[in-house]
Amino acid sequence: MSNPDSISRLDPTAPPTRRVRIQSETAPRTGAAASEAQGHRFAAPEIVFDAKNVSVFYGSKEALNGVSLGVRRGEITALIGPSGCGKTTFLRSLNRMNDSVPSFRIEGQILYHGHDIYGGNVDQVEVRRRIGMVFQKPNPFPKSIYDNIAWAPRNLGLKKDLDDRVEKALRGAALWNEVKDRLKDSALGLSGGQQQRLCIARAIAIEPDVLLLDEPASALDPIATGAIEDLMHSLKGRFTIVIVTHNMQQAARVADRTAFFSLESSSDARSVGTLIELDDTETIFSHPRDPRTRDYVTGRFG
Ligand SMILES: Nc1ncnc2c1ncn2[C@@H]1O[C@H](COP(=O)(O)OP(=O)(O)OP(=O)(O)O)[C@@H](O)[C@H]1O
Ligand SMILES: [Mg+2]
Repeated sequence: MSNPDSISRLDPTAPPTRRVRIQSETAPRTGAAASEAQGHRFAAPEIVFDAKNVSVFYGSKEALNGVSLGVRRGEITALIGPSGCGKTTFLRSLNRMNDSVPSFRIEGQILYHGHDIYGGNVDQVEVRRRIGMVFQKPNPFPKSIYDNIAWAPRNLGLKKDLDDRVEKALRGAALWNEVKDRLKDSALGLSGGQQQRLCIARAIAIEPDVLLLDEPASALDPIATGAIEDLMHSLKGRFTIVIVTHNMQQAARVADRTAFFSLESSSDARSVGTLIELDDTETIFSHPRDPRTRDYVTGRFG
């Protein structure tokens, strides 16, 4: 317990306001001091996730090979690419969600604010608290709207001012006005778009550092999709967001940076997911470096 910054040391029941800030060991320092130290006029962005040569296996099948990428603090990073190229696998690796898959194995390193997320003594509860996740299909609990949002705070012992916390989360997810008069009603009675915003409210109720979104709007109509995209814009800055999307227009609309993954042939002629490039979203869509990215974003893929 000598390292005060270790995620393994943090008390998962500590209120977010009292949580110890994890300062990156590998990420460049930000601010004037960093600029001076580096001799640059502008500080380099802070890196939240630093994936280093990450390969993921399910049994003998390699799903991802040698992925290295950085996710910047306060930005939206989109993961795009064809079906089966490992986008969900990579996303779920960022908060150890794949640990429940018995055949899952990971090589390489994922640093979260400089700490190895797969390090032996990492507290997984703390990892999930800091790195929230919203899935493709809205999955509200069969409970009231209020109890859905209050569930995680209650589990973490954050019972003080619970009403305020629930309201803040619902406001943050742009759902408050639609549900404030029916908080005791079942969440299952909400529309699909409302349910997805409820799941986002549930994720932000414990004020995580990062939100991982796996195709959060794929089952929604264009109006509900627009609401989710507006919501992402409003959450940006407060949270670091990583979003998987099949919808390239959506990536272009919401993301600061976009990572294109593809399926490539491995040495044993099996296909394996690979990161082709990560760049500013505008660059990825207008003048990517790799022809495979260009083919994909211009619809020439396959
Ligand atoms: N739990 C699992 N067990 C075994 N193989 C898996 C598991 N999850 C994913 N895979 C395999 O890993 C590869 C990558 O899957 P993944 O779901 O990450 O792709 P994806 O890019 O998210 O695809 P999609 O766009 O269709 O959602 C696929 O070949 C898939 O069959
Ligand atoms: Mg997927």
